[in-house]
Amino acid sequence: MNLYAFTLGRKHLISIAELAHVIKDQGRIVDIQTETLIVDLTRPIENPQTFLDQLGGSIKLIQITKDLNGNPPQLADEIRDHFLASINHDDTKLIYGLSLYNFAQSSKNLLKNSLIFLKKNLSKEKIKSRFINKDFKNLTCTQLHHEKVLQNGLDFSIIKTAKTVYMGHTVAYQNFESYSKRDYNRPARDAKVGMLPPKLAQIMLNLADLRRPHEKKTIFDPFCGLGTIINEATLMGFNCVGSDLHEKMVESSKKNLNWLYAQFPETPKRSTHFFTKDATQINKEDFAGNTIDAIVTESYLGPPQKKIPDNKEINKNFSHSKELLKRFLKQATKYLEKGAPIVITIPAYRQNKTIRKLSEFPEIVANSGYKILPLIPHQPANQFKLHTENSLIYDRNDQYVCREIYKIVKTV
Ligand SMILES: C[S@@+](CC[C@H](N)C(=O)[O-])C[C@H]1O[C@@H](n2cnc3c(N)ncnc32)[C@H](O)[C@@H]1O
Repeated sequence: MNLYAFTLGRKHLISIAELAHVIKDQGRIVDIQTETLIVDLTRPIENPQTFLDQLGGSIKLIQITKDLNGNPPQLADEIRDHFLASINHDDTKLIYGLSLYNFAQSSKNLLKNSLIFLKKNLSKEKIKSRFINKDFKNLTCTQLHHEKVLQNGLDFSIIKTAKTVYMGHTVAYQNFESYSKRDYNRPARDAKVGMLPPKLAQIMLNLADLRRPHEKKTIFDPFCGLGTIINEATLMGFNCVGSDLHEKMVESSKKNLNWLYAQFPETPKRSTHFFTKDATQINKEDFAGNTIDAIVTESYLGPPQKKIPDNKEINKNFSHSKELLKRFLKQATKYLEKGAPIVITIPAYRQNKTIRKLSEFPEIVANSGYKILPLIPHQPANQFKLHTENSLIYDRNDQYVCREIYKIVKTV
């Protein structure tokens, strides 16, 4: 067995959807909880950091080294024994962290007690050590990074599932510095355009589920804006075509792509073609000979909202979106092959605790020659009793404009 756990991002259903797409040919999903997804892969992961760097929705990659085959009454002893068996102790001071996943609130003190118990046992064994959990909370990627835990010590994890308790240690964690640089350091930025976070662009590209080799595939973003999707697709090795209604946006995308090549020299050299055009008017001739394998795009989200939008404002924006999406999808049937996927975000609006969605979108999709695919496939959704709606919402509590993600495929 090659068991690994992925700790899931803030929008855990989106993280699960991404993993279900990426893992499907490499192994099977063993368990899904709110905080973790566990897989049994057909072969061990050769380069864990490279593997995790492809996933926008996962935070840590944990290699599972022990299955306790149930929920033992003496968990603290089990933790101590397996922890001691997992460390390489020499004379240098051991730096370590302990993280617990999927334990109920009632086990709040378990982490604190386990850390104190471990510390005592390490002293007993005459092992100099320092744990770096702050306020007896799980270790974050920032702590792992700044304390160089993977190089100098161990981030030990205990993961509870419906059937058992697993133990393991972190082998890779999210490269938050790279994501932040790819987002905030780009030369062309504009908060009013509603830039997609690079992590979400990466997730959407993974949801398109294009088989490798990526260098033989072309992604099209017809609402490219500042080019977040183009940049992430290029990093993943795809050829890209990008277009936008506004020349200024196309120029910004080009500038950001040149910056990516300069700042991330490992970026694969791929072909890219940009043009300026209304997405509802695009034809095959616009692609300079490229065949489009998938559209991955964030459609126009409407004007930024500084306060809770009222129904009148939402209806006005939805009515614009409906017309735009209808005409764009109809037109895209002319240049997409049957079966080609479109992963798209459309606007949704937060009104206090509810989110208003564009409820007519499924009908628009069906009438334009496409069908909706579930973002979390029926298997594992049914097995793990997960949310089975056709779309997923990506939002932040401080934003009124949210994104609703859909995956559709051309059927005609
Ligand atoms: C939400 S932004 C996309 C932002 C982009 N994902 C990014 O991260 O930079 C939507 C873009 O759609 C463009 N747009 C609006 N209406 C359009 C149309 N009819 N055809 C093509 N592009 C359009 C806007 O100029 C804007 O750049």
